[in-house]
Amino acid sequence: MVDLSVDLGFLKLKNPVMAASGTFGYGLEFQPLYNLNLLGGLVVKGLYFKPREGNPPPRLAESPCGLINSIGLQGIGVEAFCREILPWLADLTTAVIANVCGEEEGEYARVAEYLSRHPGLAALELNISCPNVREGGKCPAQDPEATYRTVKRVRQASSLPLITKLSPNVTDITAVALAAQEAGSQAVSLVNTFLALAIDLESRKPKLGNVLGGLSGPAIKPLAMRMVFEVARKVKIPVIGLGGIFNYQDALEFMVAGASAVQVGTANFVNPQACPEIIKGIEDWAESQGIKRLSEIVGSLKF
Ligand SMILES: Cc1cc2nc3c(=O)[nH]c(=O)nc-3n(C[C@H](O)[C@H](O)[C@H](O)COP(=O)(O)O)c2cc1C
Repeated sequence: MVDLSVDLGFLKLKNPVMAASGTFGYGLEFQPLYNLNLLGGLVVKGLYFKPREGNPPPRLAESPCGLINSIGLQGIGVEAFCREILPWLADLTTAVIANVCGEEEGEYARVAEYLSRHPGLAALELNISCPNVREGGKCPAQDPEATYRTVKRVRQASSLPLITKLSPNVTDITAVALAAQEAGSQAVSLVNTFLALAIDLESRKPKLGNVLGGLSGPAIKPLAMRMVFEVARKVKIPVIGLGGIFNYQDALEFMVAGASAVQVGTANFVNPQACPEIIKGIEDWAESQGIKRLSEIVGSLKF
C-alpha cells in the first residue's frame, strides 16, 4: 500500500490530485460521473460577490494541443453559492476549496469574509488574475505589490487557509510568489491560463467574442512546469502545480519539479474520468517503484 496523502501544513489531502477551478463547475456537475470523495480536493468555479454573465460568445476556441477560453468568470455569486451549493459540498470528505475573485481589493476581501462565515470549506484559492476595474483592467497577479496588498487584505478578512493562484503572464513569477508568501498566503498554485489570440483567417476576425482569451491544456505543460520548478526553489510554502496535466505521468512530473499537489483542469473536458484515472495511475506507478510515501518524490528532480 502506498501512502498518497499530502500534508500542506494547513490542510491534509487524501491524495495530491484536485480538480481545477472553472473546469469542474461547482462540483455537483461531476457527481453523477464518479464518487467525488475519491479526489484529493476540488476547486469550485471563481466567485465574485454578485452573479456575473461573463464575456460575449464565442467563448471557446480550440488550438493544437490546447483550449483558448474567454468565459470571463461567469458565475452565480457568493450568496447563491453559500445558500444552494455549499451545504451539499460540506458533506463531502474531500477538501472543497472556493476560488475567490474580485474587481478590486475590497471585493476580494468581502467575498473571502462571506465565505468564511459558512461551514464546509477547507481553504480559499485567491484568483488574482481578475482584471481590476479601477486600474484599467490590470490584474493583481501582474504586480508583486498589488499581489501583496490583495493577499494581505484577504488574510485580514478571513481565517480560512489561503492559496494564492498565480498568473504565468509575467516576466518573473517568483517575485509574485514571494509577495504572496510575505503577505501571509499559506500556499501558491500555478499556473492560470496564458493570454492568447485565435484568428479566423477568412473573416480576419478574432475567434473569441472578447478578442483575447487564456490558453490551457497540454500546449502549456512545459511552460507551467518550468514555473513550478522556479517558484518551488524560491518559496518556503507548498506549491500546487497545474497546466496541461492530462495523465498520471504529467502529474508526477509536476511533483518531481517541486509541486506538493496538482490540479487537473482542461483534461476534465476531454475525459470526465481524468481525475480518478490519474489518482489510480499515480498509485500503481508508486507501487511499481517501491515508493511507500508519495510525498518522497516532491522536488526530487536530479540535475
Ligand atoms: C473554461 C475554463 C474556465 C476557467 N475558470 C477559472 C476560474 O474561474 N478561476 C481560476 O482561477 N482559473 C480558471 N481557469 C484556469 C484553470 O483553473 C487552470 O489554471 C488552467 O486552465 C491551466 O490548467 P489546465 O491546462 O490543466 O487546464 C479556467 C480554465 C478554463 C479552461
